[in-house]
Amino acid sequence: MNKNILIIPGDGIGQEVTTWGKQALETIAKKYDHTFNFDEAIMGHTAIEETGNPLPDETLAKAKTSDAILFGAIGHAKYDNDPSAKVRPEQGLLKIRKELGLYANLRPILLFDELLEASSLKPEILRGTDILFFRELTGDVYFGEKIRSEDNSFASDLMNYHRYEVERIARKAYEAARTRSKKLCSVDKANVLETSRLWRDVVQEIAREYPDVETEHMFIDNAAMQLVKNPKKFDVVLTANLFGDILTDEASQIAGSMGMLASASIGDGTGFFEPIHGSAHDIAGQNKANPLASILSAALMLDIAFGLQEEAKAVTQAVADTLKAGWRTGDIASAETPTTRILGTNEMGAKVLECLR
Ligand code: IPM
Ligand code: MG
Repeated sequence: MNKNILIIPGDGIGQEVTTWGKQALETIAKKYDHTFNFDEAIMGHTAIEETGNPLPDETLAKAKTSDAILFGAIGHAKYDNDPSAKVRPEQGLLKIRKELGLYANLRPILLFDELLEASSLKPEILRGTDILFFRELTGDVYFGEKIRSEDNSFASDLMNYHRYEVERIARKAYEAARTRSKKLCSVDKANVLETSRLWRDVVQEIAREYPDVETEHMFIDNAAMQLVKNPKKFDVVLTANLFGDILTDEASQIAGSMGMLASASIGDGTGFFEPIHGSAHDIAGQNKANPLASILSAALMLDIAFGLQEEAKAVTQAVADTLKAGWRTGDIASAETPTTRILGTNEMGAKVLECLR
């Protein structure tokens, strides 16, 4: 197989972790006799510094013509406490999602048994959890009209959804539910929000096309509570952009750390693969970040963008084997982890590649 892959490391720890996702792809190419051609592009704070634009045209053009994109992270501390900044790193990520039509964000909560002790939740609550989130990614309050009054006394973000936006992500989620345990939970706030009432209407309609899948509707506040009370009750979770953003950060604690969760954003064209974590400036450049989410994002690319299931499994297995051998980065170490088993980003990445080879 011959594929063109665009690497966008982005900001902060994005640089450090993405090199390991890329090396996992290179190792797979060698082992399974594929040709992966790599190109690189800038986005976010890095791109603002160089060009003034968080998503330069050149990056977008490269993205549109590549077969898949591996992305790192976005953001910089200097914007977090500067609400008045007009140009922000995150705009780059939102724009590329919109431009590439990446309306479905798949976030699997992959729980490795070895990490049961790393979570802040009890192992008996966690064991056996396997959730696949479908977060809508190009609509909602993220993309609605934004207003700030001249005198700074009022602001508004418009939350809106079109029927077709709900339909297409719902279909994707139901298709996935069919291949899993045939259970789908749609999360909304239909007791309060009109957008959620439309969401629920549409999901109920689509549900009729999938009578073999059991559908449940849940309010977001309840779902946030159930997720930590009894995560095993969930399988496929379908939700809107903002609710999905929040719920998946919460769910990352089931997997032990934000540093473990990979995601796939798909839609009309090129697929986009990225860890769910942010740029973590506090640890950037210190060889402390967990590279596993980037490596697992590479696995999702192999599986979803290229249909290379065996290769994808090999990568996931290499991560599992590394954890089984006792190796940890700081974020997934528990009180029982000997300090000699706690590795930096580069050492951890190298262990996974060793297992993969
Ligand atoms: C995510 C991130 C982004 C989002 C930010 C960086 C804009 O939190 O991918 O979950 O809110 O979608
Ligand atoms: Mg988020």
